Amino acid sequence: MSEPRQILVTSALPYANGSIHLGHMLEYIQTDMWVRFQKLRGNQCIYVCADDAHGSAIMLRAEKEGITPEQLIANVQAEHSGDFADFLVDFDNFHSTHSEENRELSSLIYTRLRDAGHIATRSVTQYFDPEKGMFLADRFIKGTCPKCAAEDQYGDNCEKCGATYAPTELKNPKSAISGATPVLRDSQHFFFKLPDFQAMLQQWTRSGTLQEAVANKLAEWLDSGLQEWDISRDAPYFGFEIPGEPGKYFYVWLDAPIGYMASFKNLCARRPELDFDAFWKEDSSAELYHFIGKDIVNFHALFWPAMLEGAGFRKPTAVNVHGYLTVNGAKMSKSRGTFIKARTYLDHLQPEYLRYYYAAKLGRGVDDLDLNLEDFVQKVNSDLVGKVVNIASRCAGFIHKGNDGMMVAGDAAPELTEAFLAAAPSIAEAYESRDFARAMREIMALADRANAWIADKAPWSLAKQEGKQDEVQAICAQGINLFRQLVIFLKPVLPVLAADAEAFLNVAPLTWNDHQSRLENHSLNAFKALMSRIEPAKVEAMVAASKEDLLAAEAKAPAGNGELAKDPLSAEIEFDTFAAVDLRVALIVKAEAVPGADKLLQLTLDIGDERRNVFSGIKSAYPDPSKLEGRLTMMVANLKPRKMRFGVSEGMVMAAGPGGEEIYLLSPDSGAKPGQRIK
Ligand code: MSP
Ligand code: ZN
Repeated sequence: MSEPRQILVTSALPYANGSIHLGHMLEYIQTDMWVRFQKLRGNQCIYVCADDAHGSAIMLRAEKEGITPEQLIANVQAEHSGDFADFLVDFDNFHSTHSEENRELSSLIYTRLRDAGHIATRSVTQYFDPEKGMFLADRFIKGTCPKCAAEDQYGDNCEKCGATYAPTELKNPKSAISGATPVLRDSQHFFFKLPDFQAMLQQWTRSGTLQEAVANKLAEWLDSGLQEWDISRDAPYFGFEIPGEPGKYFYVWLDAPIGYMASFKNLCARRPELDFDAFWKEDSSAELYHFIGKDIVNFHALFWPAMLEGAGFRKPTAVNVHGYLTVNGAKMSKSRGTFIKARTYLDHLQPEYLRYYYAAKLGRGVDDLDLNLEDFVQKVNSDLVGKVVNIASRCAGFIHKGNDGMMVAGDAAPELTEAFLAAAPSIAEAYESRDFARAMREIMALADRANAWIADKAPWSLAKQEGKQDEVQAICAQGINLFRQLVIFLKPVLPVLAADAEAFLNVAPLTWNDHQSRLENHSLNAFKALMSRIEPAKVEAMVAASKEDLLAAEAKAPAGNGELAKDPLSAEIEFDTFAAVDLRVALIVKAEAVPGADKLLQLTLDIGDERRNVFSGIKSAYPDPSKLEGRLTMMVANLKPRKMRFGVSEGMVMAAGPGGEEIYLLSPDSGAKPGQRIK
């Protein structure tokens, strides 16, 4: 046996200003399965992560919520930790970038880079919000596109015509934070001299550290010459002050990857067998892997190795990049209910269903992965319930009834035993190289063979015949042995199924090498269903609940940003599509708060010939809903009824505005009658 490897693994640190969704989970589940595989093989594998807690977005959100950034990040950390634990993501440590360890390591790395001459300073001219007293990042400036004159566009690109430009080119610029007109102001900035590391990076990115597609992409940047990287931000900023530079802060992306080291260091304090330096010193023999999404490659495969090299630390063994999650073939969409939060999923479905589905579709490349919800139900039910669990449920009963739960000795199908043993190295190799899809295919092919063999032997018919009891017992013991091997192979993906199977099999926690042994003259515990089928209704309910989240989010922050504004609003529609919308004058007969929903009002609307029940996310603007009673508004009367947690919503009222207190319900001119249609 070779020496156990020492492996440190990370997933990207999620921002502490939002909830975890199923796109994020692709990464954490992928990493967790790889880590569990390493542990199952007997390697020393440590998996650390943290919340990425710094930056102006977090500072501003905390301000908006009237809490300190520290309170905000503590709340979010609790939420994130709960989501990860419930998806069976088993971090050895989940820390925060806003920690003492990270402050010390960030200072150390910065001062080493500075002392080695890798930091430059120069003045930068930037927009400044005079009302708010802060410099504005591009996304906090809005104005009119210099190319197509579309209004309300961000500081660096136009969503309407796709133009990219400098914020100073925007016409009529406004601060998205205060609305004030920004002024240009100079400030001293600190730069990391990335070009100093050009040669090292050219070599490192081609040394087997990256997938080929990623290395090729980086080569484009490397060949066109690297730029110095601005690593400082001016106060007010939520982050670490730069040593010796009052009022200057590290840009969030400077200290974020150092958060990997900080989380590990924090763990070392609790686990004396772990030696920080052994993992991070320049010539460390330990392995270091970062799992990340394709959007953050330059930070991990250019800036980060250069920072480590410049500060005298080891570089990553590999950076493993995955693609983006799509749902039903499209970008996750709030309006379609496919922007699914981790918690919303967990409210309806078991975590292992998704873990298996992701495993079945994850290769070693950077392609996007589609969660097709119909395929998800079908695949999980057919593979896990129909193939794997089915073996145990077919065999266990006969052993309990016919032999008191005792598995007989002897191998009833040597050719199958041989095939399962022979497949193990290839399955292990697939896991090792992160080709989970191949691992799952090979495991399911074994499960198919086991099922076919049992079906052929038909112990259920033999059991009815005189004198066949020994044969029945031999077949079923073999079935359980094959099942046990499949459970070992699937354990990195399905840890709960494995634990339940271990309880039924009456064995200690299984390790990878256990697949080489068999259970003989071994007594089983009672069998209980190991996994139930996914009911499609549960998936539908999850999608419906995700739309409900949208109502809450819309009432909170439509502010023209991101997904919400982009999704349905920008596309042109045909006249027929417009004409298909049944817009009507509606009289608000009753308006009440909904117990348990902090954004929603329940409205009873009179539309002439009938009454409608409508839930609307407008409560923040109408804290006293009774004031709405008796007034007229407009509604979409032919919207498909939507089942929500609180009841069925039968249409939608029309309102405008950025959200919060600024939501304005539309009204017709006086004289309009309930039920009248837009013509
Ligand atoms: N805070 C940074 C990472 C700092 S690492 C030193 C960040 N955070 S994030 O919350 O936006 O994303 C965390 C990880 O989730 C990233 O690797 C990102 O690529 C991944 N994903 C976010 N949305 C995703 C999908 N829709 N699909 C797949 N992965 C996605 O980036
Ligand atoms: Zn434009």
